[in-house]
Amino acid sequence: MGARANYLREMGITRWVDASRNSPAAHPSVAAGSHAASQTDGTLETLRGRVAACELCGLHASRQQTVFGLGPVPAEWMVIGEAPGAEEDRQGVPFVGRAGALLTEMLVALGLQRNAVYVANVLKCRPPDNRDPQGAEVEHCLPYLTKQIHLVKPRMILALGRFAAQALLGSRDSLGQLRGRVHRFGKEGTPIVATYHPAYLLRSPAEKRSAWVDLKQARVTYQQECTSST
Ligand code: URA
Repeated sequence: MGARANYLREMGITRWVDASRNSPAAHPSVAAGSHAASQTDGTLETLRGRVAACELCGLHASRQQTVFGLGPVPAEWMVIGEAPGAEEDRQGVPFVGRAGALLTEMLVALGLQRNAVYVANVLKCRPPDNRDPQGAEVEHCLPYLTKQIHLVKPRMILALGRFAAQALLGSRDSLGQLRGRVHRFGKEGTPIVATYHPAYLLRSPAEKRSAWVDLKQARVTYQQECTSST
């Protein structure tokens, strides 16, 4: 059984009408992104170097390495999580652990290949013992993410969990308050949809249904706003 079918089955959705003809992955600009892999963009590389050398907060002392982000540039879709975990800290790649496997399933359920999506985090260093990010850490790291978003130029942003949603939106509202609406990022007004973090969904599988509602909202928003002019 494929990843999409697995994710839908776990959500209790047994009947899936194949909408691949209308899915974002079927859109040429998304499909083309999957092999663009332009991690060589000079400016993005400069930013990566600055992040790698960053010692603005205490997290640099305990990190094995920074976890910058991965994906095509420009990207149609950008997914933003909270912070690297142990495995990400070891490999230097975002979302490679169990939460990452679920993220891949969520993306496939959306009709997106993981390598067609740019994936990054709010924090570029692992908080020890996987504790929550602290306010000052987010404050120091957020300008890197903001610059990264401007360079990656996503047309649709998916924020995973409370920390990502609050940081991107400059809000203190709960995730419950931030879900269910399309928000905007930057002067381009890039649409942002917030949903549950996959690590939370691993602990609370009953919420996968609600996450699926968010994913569908993101997909419809992308189709309505980002596919008509291309
Ligand atoms: N959780 C995150 O928020 N980001 C990762 O990269 C891994 C787990």
